[in-house]
Amino acid sequence: MNAHHSWHTVCSPDDLADDSFREFTLIKGSAEDQTTEQRGFVFRRSGKVYGYLNRCPHLGIELNWMPGRFMDSDNCFIQCSTHGALFLPDSGECIAGPCQGEALTPLDVAESRDSIQVRRPE
Ligand code: FES
Repeated sequence: MNAHHSWHTVCSPDDLADDSFREFTLIKGSAEDQTTEQRGFVFRRSGKVYGYLNRCPHLGIELNWMPGRFMDSDNCFIQCSTHGALFLPDSGECIAGPCQGEALTPLDVAESRDSIQVRRPE
C-alpha cells in the first residue's frame, strides 16, 4: 500500500480527552518519490475526533505556538499563531484572517476501542 494513504496510529482513545490535542508526523509518498514528513494534529470536541494537517493555508507553516496549543483564547476557533487566522474546528474553513475562504487540509479519522488513526484522504 502507498504510504501516502496508509493509516497512522496516533494514540489510544483514552489519551485524547475532550478539548485536548495530539500532534503527529505523517510520511508522505515513498522513498522513490522523495519521502517528506508532514505534521498533523487531532483533537476531540464534544466527543468527536477531528484531524488536520498542521499547515496554515496562508504561508504553509505550522499553526501552533506551543505543543498541543491550537485554540484561540475563547476556545472557539483553531487559531494560527503567526497572523491570527481563525478556522472552524469542525470543517477547517478559515473564517477570518489573511487566508479567509481557504481551509485546513482535513484528514480521515477512525476511532476504535484501541486506537485513533488518521490518513490522508484518497
Ligand atoms: S501564516 Fe497563518 S495566518 Fe499567516
